[in-house]
Amino acid sequence: MDWEEMYRKGEIFWDKGAPSPPMREYLGRHPLRGRALVPGCGHGHEVALAVEFGLDALGLDIAPTGVAEARALYPKIAERFVVGNLFDPPQAMRGAFDIVLEHTCMSALPPALRGDYRRGIDRVLKPGGLLIGVWFINPNLGPGEEGPPFRLGVEDLTALFADGYEIVADYVPEVGFESRVGRERVRGMRRLGG
Ligand SMILES: C[S@@+](CC[C@H](N)C(=O)[O-])C[C@H]1O[C@@H](n2cnc3c(N)ncnc32)[C@H](O)[C@@H]1O
Repeated sequence: MDWEEMYRKGEIFWDKGAPSPPMREYLGRHPLRGRALVPGCGHGHEVALAVEFGLDALGLDIAPTGVAEARALYPKIAERFVVGNLFDPPQAMRGAFDIVLEHTCMSALPPALRGDYRRGIDRVLKPGGLLIGVWFINPNLGPGEEGPPFRLGVEDLTALFADGYEIVADYVPEVGFESRVGRERVRGMRRLGG
């Protein structure tokens, strides 16, 4: 998938123009502090949300046009958006974050890249840090449709983080963008160690 091309063409079908309701609900219920990274931040709505909740947040995205548009949408926090690859994160991001906030980055990746995603998270998240995700479990694909978003079974998520992480929150949120209610799962995981 050529993400840069999608942004250039304005074909950003995933973008809801607002922060994830389940992420807002989670941050409202669980006050968090520290440095947070939003991988695959796109237009940066969850970065703005994290800043609203007092986190020292950065967004990382592989598509320069997506990042430029995030900066234009959120000029007061423009310096918080960085171009880069989660799989090979910038040096300054390695081991630098207390929290990672996941929203539709993982579901954008073909299953073959999930190991790279996990290694990317390990590279940026401190031991003892939290990975809080609104995981898009059921994209409701039609027959023959592959994705993105790719189908991500709960069991796939469990297997991907089976070693080195413990689950600290796990539920199907009741709030969500209209078309996604009942199809997402909030799961928080703490990286062991630290
Ligand atoms: C489906 S979009 C979601 C964007 C945003 N999270 C949202 O919810 O609107 C997936 C995003 O992940 C970015 N992306 C894909 N692979 C990436 C990687 N390896 N590192 C960083 N960003 C990546 C894409 O450029 C795209 O902006």
